[in-house]
Amino acid sequence: MSESTAAFLYLVSGVLFILALRGLSHPTTSRQGNMMGMVGMAIAILTTLFLAGPSFGGFALIVVGIAIGGTAGAIIARRIAMTAMPQLVAAFHSLVGLAAVMVAAAALYAPESMGIGAIGAIHGQALVEMSIGVAIGAITFTGSVIAFLKLDGRMSGKPIMLPQRHAINIALGVLLVVLVVWFAATESHALFWLVVLVSLALGVLLIIPIGGADMPVVVSMLNSYSGWAAAGIGFTLQNLALIITGALVGSSGAILSYIMCKGMNRSFISVILGGFGGESGPAGGEDMGDRTIKQGSAEDAAYLMANASKVIIVPGYGMAVAQAQHALREMADKLKEEGVEVKYAIHPVAGRMPGHMNVLLAEANVPYDDVFELEDINSEFSQSDVAFVIGANDVTNPAARDDKTSPIYGMPILNVDQAQTCLFVKRSLGSGYAGIDNTLFYKDNTMMLLADAKKMVEDIVKALDR
Ligand code: TAP
Repeated sequence: MSESTAAFLYLVSGVLFILALRGLSHPTTSRQGNMMGMVGMAIAILTTLFLAGPSFGGFALIVVGIAIGGTAGAIIARRIAMTAMPQLVAAFHSLVGLAAVMVAAAALYAPESMGIGAIGAIHGQALVEMSIGVAIGAITFTGSVIAFLKLDGRMSGKPIMLPQRHAINIALGVLLVVLVVWFAATESHALFWLVVLVSLALGVLLIIPIGGADMPVVVSMLNSYSGWAAAGIGFTLQNLALIITGALVGSSGAILSYIMCKGMNRSFISVILGGFGGESGPAGGEDMGDRTIKQGSAEDAAYLMANASKVIIVPGYGMAVAQAQHALREMADKLKEEGVEVKYAIHPVAGRMPGHMNVLLAEANVPYDDVFELEDINSEFSQSDVAFVIGANDVTNPAARDDKTSPIYGMPILNVDQAQTCLFVKRSLGSGYAGIDNTLFYKDNTMMLLADAKKMVEDIVKALDR
């Protein structure tokens, strides 16, 4: 009775997770989606605790585990800056991978406790699931640690290219398959740890060649890997909820990676195999030509925009750093009062995580109808009077369009240079995340507004009031 009730409740939580993903696909329904996910997770946890039943001793351990993990999670969540989210996500993915390795090891050394046979006589199917799960888990673990170190700036974001790296990766991949099959046939503990070792090495090798600008795809790809690792744990533990959740995370992460690849114009297959996008030449290979800039003030910007008929705002990472979104909305409201048409253009990898800009603009109550994705608005820059670039850099860099030697060559960009005037708010002429110079700063129709984004927008609002 309790087993079928547990299966039913797991199914209910699975359906709620699917509805959560559906809700999260649009800002207007995302809160509702989050609620569905939270209810689904509460049902799954309570079912696991009370129906899928640990013994009393196990129960006490789980409570201690939840208390320690929950406290650590709550402290980290309170302290973390929004701009450090990608590295936090990468760090959490590494824990999922490590958990998969540990659960598989526990299953190997104590199979009776998981009902998969006895030591030396573990069921064949369980051995296959265990070895695949541990391999994905170990790759996720080291891959995510490297991604964390790169995103957090503790390791250079530059691609590290080993000679013959594709051959090495293929050889390790083949070795891994051989070891998995051999382990499943023999249940040798030594082979199990060899699978772990090779997978750990593969995780490192897959991520080190990936350069700064391509890290967004890596984060979503590791998200997908961590889902499959969790599904692997689900098979080992024979837990339906974990299998469903892991598969949902795995597949939605893969879909997100695909979308990001399209946004970055990268091949999905080469991302999965690692080390894509690193073949191109050094950063900033383009001739920068005349390096004089036209610098303007808040008053200049206010005058230009108040007299425009159409302004397109392009937010980027710097807006998030400065927390300029509220002042920005105020500026847009004032321009609208003057009869100016104002739209926002969002690049798929603007900021440091998928949807980063959308979240900040929603927080500042920017109407969803004013916010447009790259492919829906790019053709409008040529008919606009002002492109107002605030804290964005790489996502506007024409090197991606014109310079074949650039590491970001091929990535679609927002065509801000096609607006009559391009206003660029940033603090210096420094580069963005990809570390590449931006020729736009030196163009005739560009006016640099060199200041902190929030301060500059507040000053523009004041100037509009005068
Ligand atoms: P970036 O190219 O990183 O440029 C941000 C700019 O903001 C910098 O050039 C910086 O210039 C300026 N800035 C920083 N703090 C500022 C402040 N307080 N006030 C004003 N400006 C400030 O940003 P982007 O155009 O949004 O592009 C995103 C980049 O991050 C891409 O290369 C993307 O591949 C990468 N990335 C994205 C993600 C996701 S999923 N979105 C994840 C990881 C990496 P100054 O220092 O001169 O002010």
